[in-house]
Amino acid sequence: MARSKAFVTRVIPEAGIERLATAYDVEVNRADRPLSPKEISERAKGCRALVTLLTDRVDGALLDLCPDVRIVANVAVGYDNIDVAAATERGVWVTNTPGVLTETTADLAWALLMAAARRIGEAERFVRAGRFHGWGIMMFLGGDVYGKTLGIAGFGRIGQAVAKRARGFDMRVLYTDAQRAPEDVEHACSAAFVDKATLLRESDFLSLHMPLLPETHHWLSEAEFKAMKPTAYVVNTSRGPTIDEAALAKALREGWIAGAGIDVYEEEPKVHPDLITCENAVLVPHIGSASIETRNRMATIAADNCVAFARGERPPTAVNQPAAAKA
Ligand code: GLV
Repeated sequence: MARSKAFVTRVIPEAGIERLATAYDVEVNRADRPLSPKEISERAKGCRALVTLLTDRVDGALLDLCPDVRIVANVAVGYDNIDVAAATERGVWVTNTPGVLTETTADLAWALLMAAARRIGEAERFVRAGRFHGWGIMMFLGGDVYGKTLGIAGFGRIGQAVAKRARGFDMRVLYTDAQRAPEDVEHACSAAFVDKATLLRESDFLSLHMPLLPETHHWLSEAEFKAMKPTAYVVNTSRGPTIDEAALAKALREGWIAGAGIDVYEEEPKVHPDLITCENAVLVPHIGSASIETRNRMATIAADNCVAFARGERPPTAVNQPAAAKA
């Protein structure tokens, strides 16, 4: 029997491609640049499985151009780049890669938190520019981390992992979410549920971990930054549009907050020009899950979903239940 075909829209770790090849004839866009919808539809012609990345926009129009595709496996935990309703209507499975990137992303949130508090980006630029001519008692004074209040917005797996790391810094941890977590989870994370206004008012560090939804779009904007402490720091490793980026740049410039550590942007790969010039922002290029081990695991899970589908099984990390799903 002829094997089904799979198309991988960009280079992913080999572990995922090898796993995919156990059930499919695999084609990969080795050029490693995002393809246009037209290019994807041409390259994915006759494919049953499409392995996508955050840089691909998968909507009804694209799926209509790829009528043989029955599973879209996104190599990411977030899937706001995919119109899940359109896929569901067309009988197409959508899968993500939850769980495996939790700790790695929590590590990056902490790296940004520390870097913002201790002005690591600025200090590093200073040394590289040959400007370090001697120790100075007033040089690069930042904010302490230990003993402060950490606020978490979005208390899912990653938010909880960030909270747990605060224990070593003797921090008070507050969180807000659409739903309060069960008591045992709060206890395990030593975290207290508060409303958004309290979180903004009390946090010395505020880290965002919510999915991008209409209700989380611009969750932080001018009014919210003004409600925060002028000594507070904001960290975002979730999705760029949860923060109004122009308002963030203004808050950093006007001193409404002290600093920020940012991994995700409103219009990636563009970064707001006002933010680029803020010395008190540590900016990294969407690398939350970027460890070798985690990226291997993410690619493998995406492939596992496609392999399960090829065997007539339910993809293990499906985020939808397609209407009239075809095997
Ligand atoms: C990365 O941003 C992801 O959603 O996996």
